[in-house]
Amino acid sequence: PAAVYGRVAPLIVEIGSGQGHAIVHAASGRPGDDFLAVEVFRAGLARTMRDADRTGARNLRLVEANAPEVLEHLLPAASVSELWVFFPDPWHKKKHTKRRLVTADFARLAARALRPDGMLRLATDWEDYAQQMRAVLDAAPEFERAFDGEWAPRFDGRVLTAFERKGERAGRAIRDLAYRPATP
Ligand SMILES: C[S@@+](CC[C@H](N)C(=O)[O-])C[C@H]1O[C@@H](n2cnc3c(N)ncnc32)[C@H](O)[C@@H]1O
Repeated sequence: PAAVYGRVAPLIVEIGSGQGHAIVHAASGRPGDDFLAVEVFRAGLARTMRDADRTGARNLRLVEANAPEVLEHLLPAASVSELWVFFPDPWHKKKHTKRRLVTADFARLAARALRPDGMLRLATDWEDYAQQMRAVLDAAPEFERAFDGEWAPRFDGRVLTAFERKGERAGRAIRDLAYRPATP
């Protein structure tokens, strides 16, 4: 990261950045941090680049790649300050739930990339996926909860995206979760 961004700064990685609303907003508002958008949807990446250009953000890079491979092979171990997963594809039909991103394997890869003082933040509007995320991460030896009560408070660094609005309009509750790497 130091070579890519030309400096040493906290690195925030968003997986499945979609149209880039959250990460462009964050990058332009936090010039002291570096940002990486990971996405497979090319039109979303194009939109992200256009919007980043308009805001003049210099601290954002994009990678068109499959997120688990980025976590495993592209990012150095213990290099990421925050990892964001907001509204990942819900795969809500029963026969498709095995395609979901947040699994025990994902937890292992996320923990590898995160710094020991890092943070994993997630949000979804699908209740059963929220429960799956929480069950998987509660059970993962690599992570511990960074919230009290049932769910984390809404992360105030998260801008309202079309996916959140759609979920809200459909009457679905938005669930936030936050986990930190477990202390050995
Ligand atoms: C439901 S959208 C949410 C986008 C954005 N986070 C938001 O809240 O508006 C999920 C995004 O994750 C991307 N995605 C799905 N699987 C991915 C993977 N394996 N690696 C990278 N991106 C992925 C999709 O292309 C899609 O843009």
